[in-house]
Amino acid sequence: MVKEGKDDHLPTPTSSNNARSNKKGRYLLYAILVPCFVLGAFVSSRSNYPSFVEWGTKINQAVSRCHQNTDNAAGVCVQARVLYPQSSKNAEVWTEFGKLLETDAFKTLAIDKLSGLIQIPSESYDNMPPPGEDPRWETMGQVHDYLARAFPLIHKTLSLTKINTYGLLYEWTGTDSSLKPYILAAHQDVVPVNPETIGAWTYPPYSGFFDGINIWGRGATDDKASLAAIMLTLETLLEKGWTPARMVVLAFGFDEEASGLHGAGSLGKALEETYGQNAFEFIVDEGGGFDEAYGTVFAAPAVAEKGYIDVKIDVTSPGGHSSVPPPHTTIGYLSSLITEFEKNPYPIELTRGSVPHDTLLCAASYGQTIPRDLKHAILKSRHSDKAMRKVEELFVLSNIWYASLVGTTQAVDIISGGVKANALPESASAILNHRINTESSIKETTTRDGHTIADLVYSFNLTLNAFGEDLIPASAYASKAMGHVELSLAFNDEREPAPRTPTTGKHWEFLSGTIKATYNAHRGLEGEDNIIISPGMSTGNTGFTDTKYYWNLTRNIFRYNHNNGTSAGVHTVNENIALDHYLEMVRFFTTLIVNADEADF
Ligand SMILES: *[C@@H]1O[C@H](CO)[C@@H](O)[C@H](O)[C@H]1NC(C)=O
Ligand SMILES: *[C@@H]1O[C@H](CO)[C@@H](O)[C@H](O)[C@H]1NC(C)=O
Ligand SMILES: *[C@@H]1O[C@H](CO)[C@@H](O)[C@H](O)[C@H]1NC(C)=O
Ligand SMILES: [Zn+2]
Repeated sequence: MVKEGKDDHLPTPTSSNNARSNKKGRYLLYAILVPCFVLGAFVSSRSNYPSFVEWGTKINQAVSRCHQNTDNAAGVCVQARVLYPQSSKNAEVWTEFGKLLETDAFKTLAIDKLSGLIQIPSESYDNMPPPGEDPRWETMGQVHDYLARAFPLIHKTLSLTKINTYGLLYEWTGTDSSLKPYILAAHQDVVPVNPETIGAWTYPPYSGFFDGINIWGRGATDDKASLAAIMLTLETLLEKGWTPARMVVLAFGFDEEASGLHGAGSLGKALEETYGQNAFEFIVDEGGGFDEAYGTVFAAPAVAEKGYIDVKIDVTSPGGHSSVPPPHTTIGYLSSLITEFEKNPYPIELTRGSVPHDTLLCAASYGQTIPRDLKHAILKSRHSDKAMRKVEELFVLSNIWYASLVGTTQAVDIISGGVKANALPESASAILNHRINTESSIKETTTRDGHTIADLVYSFNLTLNAFGEDLIPASAYASKAMGHVELSLAFNDEREPAPRTPTTGKHWEFLSGTIKATYNAHRGLEGEDNIIISPGMSTGNTGFTDTKYYWNLTRNIFRYNHNNGTSAGVHTVNENIALDHYLEMVRFFTTLIVNADEADF
């Protein structure tokens, strides 16, 4: 799941556990829909998020004043039809598999496969050197050995290539080579367990213990359930003698929680070299799940990611002895600049056509208990700017999580300067971290940063260079400038917002229909709209999924693994997944594979 960076300071409260407990993956499903929950049970189970709780209370008050809203606006949040496999080859295997999923024998097998995988502590750490130069990678070798033992048919039938030692690339060739392949992705690594928290785990983090309902351990949800579910689906299909018409590719990285560079970074390159750009119909990787909000169950595949940039602010000025100080030292200048940034936050503007707005349209269109004034404002905001501002007022500005999705965020996360109490610091610097709005760009962000401080820098008689451009040159002053301010890229880890996955057309309809079919089959339901599919997005993370290395492979990147949003403990203590939720993921991958096999993209 989402990796929160070392310097990540999301404006959320600390929980009681440890620093890492803040570093959760957060998806739009949570960020948008969850705050709207009116269920007290939910609010209390997430009580480490006061922003939610406050929101829950507000909404509760609002809801008690409002009526049921069931009329959907035409053309808004259009739902695809539920999609079941049609050909007898696919329909039969799907029905059989569905029955098998309900047997105790299969459940035992499924628990065993995931539990064994959890028992390997395949932790990845920030800034690790490449495989071969750091023995900590060797746990990934144990993952490989385990997979070979646990899924023998896959290893007999599919071709396996190891990319950059530990990246796993499985290829299951189809009978019809004219059909474009697709990729199922997952990651083998897990977030390290903070040794200080081991005592706080109900069951040891690498036990893989099954307590009759839940399977416990680091990676249970993020992301070993996906990996095990994909493998178990394929192994079972092989056992049933099923063969694909359309080629299936599996790509499993091994450092998603650290940056993805060595794993998905290499896999992406290898895939592009072998298959070419846009050679795949779609990619499904970890991401959003489904959950209830406003009395309706929504699935929110993440279809966008914010961009990312760390800006270094350097201030230099002649040093000297602090017995004869100038009015400002570099530290003083820097403090003023930081204050200037904070006084000028990026605007929070909901944009028509953006993912957060589309998500709200789905909530307005299908949320059974959404407050009436909010619903009307959202629907009207399709055409009216005034209504858009009202939505911001009603929903966005009161919810920092949601606000963080809508605008570019900024946070000064690192500061340094000065070495001695009696010497003037010749330099001082800070790092300003931005998560770039999906509607914006790196260029727009760096340009704005330079302009935000230019007047202040000028008033100090300092020169300013922003990202190579002399905004205030030495020639701006008659006499010598008092010093210099430089804005630059801090770590070269900047990334543009991800290209948006289309949320209309065949691929989106295919995914939507597949989710609906899975949801229905798992509950014995019939009908079309038992679950509503909404475009989703994560809050701004440093390295959302491994898919950031897969942008060239297809436009249709779905960050979604059909997990029930109530799974606990991601990136913190007591990570676990309910057996039933994990089995539903298996059902999802089964449905996806048979549907993809006959889809007419
Ligand atoms: C900047 O320079 C001008 C002209 O030399 C001077 O009047 C002013 O006091 C200086 N300001 C600062 C903050 O040093
Ligand atoms: C995608 O393709 C572009 C140009 O074709 C290339 O510059 C870029 O490095 C590729 N991206 C990745 C992640 O491989
Ligand atoms: C998610 O899981 C919880 C706990 O098992 C369950 O109560 C809830 O009904 C599930 N949600 C959906 C939409 O199935
Ligand atoms: Zn993950």
